[in-house]
Amino acid sequence: MDAKVDLGPMGIGTNVWGRRGKASQDIIGAFNAAVEAGISFIDTAELYQGGGSERSVALALAERRKAKPTGPEPKILSKFFPWPWRLSTRTLKNALEASLERLGLARLDVYLLHFPLPPVPLESWVNALGDAVEAGLARAVGVSNCGPAQVRLAHKVLARRGIGLACDEIEYSLLNRRVERNGTLSTCAELGVPVIAYRPLGLGLLPSAVATIPGARKLMAPKTDAAGLASLRKLLVEIGSAHGGKTAAQVALNWTIAKGTIPIPGARSIAHLKENAGALGWELQSREVEALDEAADRAVGH
Ligand SMILES: NC(=O)c1ccc[n+]([C@@H]2O[C@H](COP(=O)([O-])OP(=O)(O)OC[C@H]3O[C@@H](n4cnc5c(N)ncnc54)[C@H](OP(=O)(O)O)[C@@H]3O)[C@@H](O)[C@H]2O)c1
Repeated sequence: MDAKVDLGPMGIGTNVWGRRGKASQDIIGAFNAAVEAGISFIDTAELYQGGGSERSVALALAERRKAKPTGPEPKILSKFFPWPWRLSTRTLKNALEASLERLGLARLDVYLLHFPLPPVPLESWVNALGDAVEAGLARAVGVSNCGPAQVRLAHKVLARRGIGLACDEIEYSLLNRRVERNGTLSTCAELGVPVIAYRPLGLGLLPSAVATIPGARKLMAPKTDAAGLASLRKLLVEIGSAHGGKTAAQVALNWTIAKGTIPIPGARSIAHLKENAGALGWELQSREVEALDEAADRAVGH
């Protein structure tokens, strides 16, 4: 059983969907626009908005089905959070069943361990993911926020059971390149494990000329040097112009694709979703990738 799915070139991040417990018409419209534009999967989690994100995805899927679309259905990826009180691996199956109920699905395309947190060892959670595949509750399984040694372990544990590791979902953008330096990207490439890049727009700092991010999300924002960030944004715009008017967001996303990863920009508006899909179907030149790497180093003070 290989149990891998082809996620395609880009997904949608939904961690702020369903804030008020329901999908707005805007989100449903954005969801359809994104799928029509070639975005192939939806990233959600039980953690996001206390299940509100999964419920929003279910509503968007139901609306889409009513419209009887002709194109392929987007794949759905969700995640299990190993809260410290979840001490038995049985809790993973229970949580997966609850996610399936919120999503209105019989089976998930991909189910991930959200973080490799103690006290339950990673190997036990990964075996529980393998059980979910064997029980027919998930087509494929993967991990998130795992470093090189953890990816190797997860890959080995699943390989023993003849199951592929579908992905490692990690933070990766021009403003956070830790996984290039700590060996995660090279380990995934060596093992053939797809990498999903979360926060690929640096929480919105890359395309937007805002000095800081408002609210609690500020705590997660990458530390930047103001002048360096301004130069990086200028370069994103210049490179975009040289590619026939691509926007800064499209260039920033295309950079993550050039590095061999699958970005999941978070967006709520039809305009942003459509714009982000415009990162597909063209390629940055290698000298542009190098120039962006150098500007990114200056933006984060390396
Ligand atoms: N596995 C994990 O541990 C983990 C952790 C964090 C996030 N994630 C996933 O990764 C996804 C993406 O991360 P994120 O949403 O935190 O950060 P992000 O994708 O880097 O940035 C999202 C921000 O960028 C804005 N934006 C989106 N498209 C834009 C565009 N074309 N132009 C200008 N601004 C744009 C969004 O605004 P609007 O909202 O107004 O559209 C939002 O404020 C999440 O939704 C979630 O699915 C996973």
